[in-house]
Amino acid sequence: MPASSRITRRGVLAGAAAGAITTSIVALGGWRIGQRPVLSPEASGAAGPQTGRTPLAIPPLNEGAVGPDGVREFALAAQAGTSAFLPGKQTPTWGYNGPFGGPTLRAAEDEQVRVSVRNDLDEVTTTHWHGMKLPALADGGPHQPIEPGETWTAEWTVEQPASTLWYHPHNHGTTEAHVYRGLAGLFLIDDAEPPQDSPLPREYGVDDIPLILSDRSFAADGSFAEQHRSAAGMLGDTILVNGTVAPEFIATRAQTRLRVLNGSTARSYRLQLDNGSLELVGTDSGLLPEPVMIDGITLTPGERAEVIVTLEPGDTVILRSAAHSLGLLGTTERASGTRDSFDILAIARDTDDDDSVGSPELADWVAAGGFLAAPFPADAEPDKRRTVTLQDSKINHRRMNMNRIDEVVTVGDRERWFITNEHFLPHNLHIHNARFRVHSIGGREPAAELRGWKDTVYAPPSRTVIVDVEFGTSTDPHLPYMFHCHLLQHEDQGMMAQFVVVQPGETAGPLDTPAIRDGGSHDSH
Ligand code: C2O
Ligand code: CU
Ligand code: CU
Repeated sequence: MPASSRITRRGVLAGAAAGAITTSIVALGGWRIGQRPVLSPEASGAAGPQTGRTPLAIPPLNEGAVGPDGVREFALAAQAGTSAFLPGKQTPTWGYNGPFGGPTLRAAEDEQVRVSVRNDLDEVTTTHWHGMKLPALADGGPHQPIEPGETWTAEWTVEQPASTLWYHPHNHGTTEAHVYRGLAGLFLIDDAEPPQDSPLPREYGVDDIPLILSDRSFAADGSFAEQHRSAAGMLGDTILVNGTVAPEFIATRAQTRLRVLNGSTARSYRLQLDNGSLELVGTDSGLLPEPVMIDGITLTPGERAEVIVTLEPGDTVILRSAAHSLGLLGTTERASGTRDSFDILAIARDTDDDDSVGSPELADWVAAGGFLAAPFPADAEPDKRRTVTLQDSKINHRRMNMNRIDEVVTVGDRERWFITNEHFLPHNLHIHNARFRVHSIGGREPAAELRGWKDTVYAPPSRTVIVDVEFGTSTDPHLPYMFHCHLLQHEDQGMMAQFVVVQPGETAGPLDTPAIRDGGSHDSH
């Protein structure tokens, strides 16, 4: 449907379902975050007359092109530009192939992909494929710097099933700033052979909708303010969803799939719907075998969730972030914004569409024996146990050192990691080139929202999170992967460590990367 007809249909929606819309306007008051001044929907020049909201921006889909060699090729350019988030203000921003954010890349399991990234910025950056299993050379961490004017090319074979991954800078010491300025996009992986009769919504931008959440503060001139720092990092008073302030989405199908990424550098979200439960179908690194109904899901920076929203024609629901707890001391909770509650997105179903007639409901399909993903593997004894403790700016009592190999993983081993946050601040842990399942938290079974495939997990103070990790199949004794806290200020401060993956019996090291040769051989800070 072209954009113009969508706008016309919004008018129809407001006329025919005035009751529902009026109710939602009343419910829309809640943009206030914390005690700081916030932007009301009315303050936005693009505010629509019906719901008071701006149409949600959808990042462009980029499926690349398959060349004669059978490789699916993508081209990205990191560049500076300006974006209009506030009425009458231009905000200097960074983006991939545009002024802010980045295209949604899409490829399938078993495909070979090649992505070139040109750096049109005036400082060195990197591009990391978060959640991807791939050779260390292609990982895009701090060891693969892209100098201004240069192009870096990463190539790998997708070796994981359907999942919602993402990409962002990972430069040594400046990751937070580069992400905050706007560099982030999604990388969707499809199953090699998606179940043909699956009613899981999969039409990008129509019923399969990405939601990249981030928060920003603005200076008087409209630029991003980088000074609102808490112990967790930068907290903004304005929520951007795909770069849109106070957005609405007009659903044209009975079921809409939302792929939600916490792209904030510090803020934690508690996703809820204002009219009931969430139907969770996927977490960070893949789909659940079957949907599960949950009250809500907490996303700390870097985590993702896929949920299904079901609407009758004329219905409006609000996706919100509720006040929640990360199990911290009172004042520390504020550092992650957990006391804030606010609206994320209004989703209104068109009144005059009848796409719902006969449309299969996911729940019915599952009840009839359908499944979204392979069943989870049974618990098995790990081949290797590893302890990861988190302290102030440190992992296992050490700060990041680009020259040091902290851990050596043997390819094919199933590893059980015991992650303990020994600090009073919120931290999470993200492991590159891997996916994992949460075995237990503080000796208890994980909540339903944490039972899927993960690559990033929140680590509450004084408790041990036990995860069973499955690494990618590539090996390289000389090039490392990272594991780190995904609160990006903490990562930049040194809360990161390195591992290599080797063949059985192979000796690890020495590390040999351009970043080290070019003088990256210093301790961070
Ligand atoms: Cu999202 Cu090491 O990264
Ligand atoms: Cu990552
Ligand atoms: Cu941290």
